[in-house]
Amino acid sequence: MHKGNEESSVPDPLRRAWFETVYDAAGGDPAKVPWANLLPHPLTRTWIEGQARGIDGLRVLDIGCGLGDNAECLAAARAKVTAFDLVPKAIAWARQRFPDSPVDYQAGDLFALPASWLHAFDLVHECYTLQALSVSLLPKALAQLASLLAPGGKVLLIARARGEDEEIEGPPWPLPPSIFEEAKRQGLFPLMVEDIMATAEVGRRHWRALLQYQDR
Ligand SMILES: C[S@@+](CC[C@H](N)C(=O)[O-])C[C@H]1O[C@@H](n2cnc3c(N)ncnc32)[C@H](O)[C@@H]1O
Repeated sequence: MHKGNEESSVPDPLRRAWFETVYDAAGGDPAKVPWANLLPHPLTRTWIEGQARGIDGLRVLDIGCGLGDNAECLAAARAKVTAFDLVPKAIAWARQRFPDSPVDYQAGDLFALPASWLHAFDLVHECYTLQALSVSLLPKALAQLASLLAPGGKVLLIARARGEDEEIEGPPWPLPPSIFEEAKRQGLFPLMVEDIMATAEVGRRHWRALLQYQDR
């Protein structure tokens, strides 16, 4: 994969301080959090709406949940949703926004998962978190997603897309097509990959993909 950035010599490879600063500096104003639209992502919402059998009762984990709008959308479709974020302030903010929510919001790190979550979910939802990670963390991040899934479980991936050799200046770092080759190496096999060009609803090129976990 194209090396858009390197974290090896960086003292904070997870960019924890960067994410914490975004939420701290917002001072409670969501307009100052670049990814917070206070609405579910349209590609998440329409995917849920398109599920003929629904997602009622599915055990769903939303990774890097931010202020919680996608988690709430999944829960409104009657999934049993856990949602976590690296930044405790984001989690406190989501809980404050949705005080009666059925979502189990937790602070946590994708790279240090609780043992009780391993192979515990039918669906892992990821929206814009992989593209916020240093490129060299992506193989491990995909392996972590795979480790969360029960047999036959799936990842719904929503991310900005780019051509393989397109120059990028992140963050974010839109994902190249080779992300799906890497996903296969980590046990996540594409059932569907949509390459969605910019529309009025989604202002830039995106991937929406469903990846199924197959134990090797
Ligand atoms: C670009 S934001 C997207 C937030 C949300 N998914 C959305 O679509 O609005 C990425 C989120 O991932 C979180 N994050 C970054 N690294 C993480 C990690 N290692 N574990 C869990 N969350 C992480 C950040 O704190 C941030 O809230």
